[in-house]
Amino acid sequence: MRIASLLILVLFFACNSATPTKKGPPYPIQKQLVTDNAMVVTAHPLASEVGLEILKAGGNAVDAAIAVNFTLAVVYPRAGNIGGGGFMIVRDKDGKTEALDFREKAPKAAFRDMYLDNNGEVVEGLSRNGTLAVGVPGVVDGMVNAHKKFGKLPWHKLLEPAIKLAVGGFLITEQEADVFNEFQGAFKENNRHQPAIVNDADWQPNDQFIQKELARTLMLIKDKGVAGFYEGPTAKLIIEEMKASNGIITHDDLKSYESVWRTPVFFDYDEYRLVSMPPPSSGGITLAQMLAMVEPYDLKALGFQSSKSVHLMAEAERRAYADRAEHLGDADFYKVPQQKLVAEAYASQRMSNFSPQKAGKSEETVAGKFSESEETTHFSIVDKDGNAVSLTTTLNSNFGSKTVVKGAGFFLNNEMDDFSAKPGVPNQFGLVGNEANAVEPEKRMLSSMTPTIIEKNGELFMVVGTPGGSTIITSVFQVFLNVAEFGLPLKEAVHNKRFHHQWLPDKIFVEENTLSPEVVKELENLGHVVEKRDYIGRVEAILRLPNGKLEGVADDRGDDSASGY
Ligand code: DON
Repeated sequence: MRIASLLILVLFFACNSATPTKKGPPYPIQKQLVTDNAMVVTAHPLASEVGLEILKAGGNAVDAAIAVNFTLAVVYPRAGNIGGGGFMIVRDKDGKTEALDFREKAPKAAFRDMYLDNNGEVVEGLSRNGTLAVGVPGVVDGMVNAHKKFGKLPWHKLLEPAIKLAVGGFLITEQEADVFNEFQGAFKENNRHQPAIVNDADWQPNDQFIQKELARTLMLIKDKGVAGFYEGPTAKLIIEEMKASNGIITHDDLKSYESVWRTPVFFDYDEYRLVSMPPPSSGGITLAQMLAMVEPYDLKALGFQSSKSVHLMAEAERRAYADRAEHLGDADFYKVPQQKLVAEAYASQRMSNFSPQKAGKSEETVAGKFSESEETTHFSIVDKDGNAVSLTTTLNSNFGSKTVVKGAGFFLNNEMDDFSAKPGVPNQFGLVGNEANAVEPEKRMLSSMTPTIIEKNGELFMVVGTPGGSTIITSVFQVFLNVAEFGLPLKEAVHNKRFHHQWLPDKIFVEENTLSPEVVKELENLGHVVEKRDYIGRVEAILRLPNGKLEGVADDRGDDSASGY
């Protein structure tokens, strides 16, 4: 299907919205696909189709990633964005790898105790709600930067699909309708105008969603690139939004934002080489630490999701997350002991007090709690030449700060909550931090996003990543081990239920029906506290099969879908 025909399909659905069927999703959703040439796996079927059409039109994996990213800002507004930030790992067909950091930055007027009251206590919600929670967005600069370095197709071609979907609208799925409805109150509370997403009647599956203001902003980005967002009318509208409430982002903050190419974190596990995100994400280092801690053990012999393997993996997670809280932050501002943390000797020292018979104890400090409204999005792409992209992007919470820039139609992030507002006080993901991740002007807040590309014996093997806040790193850890150690087919490796330990709170969180009652009992006998929670992650993965074909698997925890040819 070419872009034109995809749009006809979209318009067909849109035109028929007067008599919606209300049955089933409005688009085919493909959870698993095997193709000869190329693959795109994203959180939304329309975004996957846009990526596919860009690849078929001669674009490479980075072109497709840029088009998918802008499309997700339209069709998946809870996390797809232009008002947030993210990270991208690229591995080109010759095996050269790059990491692009387009994470938000603290505004220049930000300061260490900005979320504390006069008594030095954290003001509940201040780093999460309203425009004081907003970091300087990085996505548009990141996409322009990626295009300059790798792009093959002209820039405007990569914006056109998103613009058409914003102007013409698209039909929302049942899940989207539910999420839109769930947040109506928050949208009304956080906006001084009526954004397109506010609907006085409940949203229904197959309703048409049109975003004219967002389309105008995307057109400015199409015509002017970076200046279409960080300067001119869009910048003016962002600053007006700041002034209308307690925001502190200035024109100078916007103009001076720069995304950065960084050296990825590399590490080996058996015959695999993993390439992942360095600081300001904790993803690569924490993943490297956890894998180094479990590598000496025969996980397969311990058994998939047996009490023995879950205990071992949870103990590795506990130790790595404790280090994360103390040592990780933006390395441009804080000396992160990266080499020491990922050294094998350090991993064995950390595990020297591991007992197969007894759970460790995370120091009892402040118990964290999880927010139920967490969302980010990841996509994985491989093109016909073997170039691969792994990209995770976020507004932080679902719909970020819930504030839509009036006149510009896009949500602003609430990424400032990823800083440690005060040592030891958990953020919305229950994560605690310290000096390394304290607020400073122009610093990037620590992330858990873990876009990862894995090689096996020097060849492309897997492209993987996920949303999920603090659970991102443990989800990537498990999906990789599910394939590499436990020998699961990719679909099961991704769709299987997951578990998670993050040091504090001192618990193993599990999705419903992850572990059998016997395994839970055995873990409790070892001294673990096992607690049920809702979804852990939404993984989008691509595997290069031994016969050279590509297998794409989209998580079954949402509308996620794979497209390819
Ligand atoms: O950068 C981070 O680690 C968080 N802001 C990611 C948020 C997230 O994944 C929410 N999603 N489920």
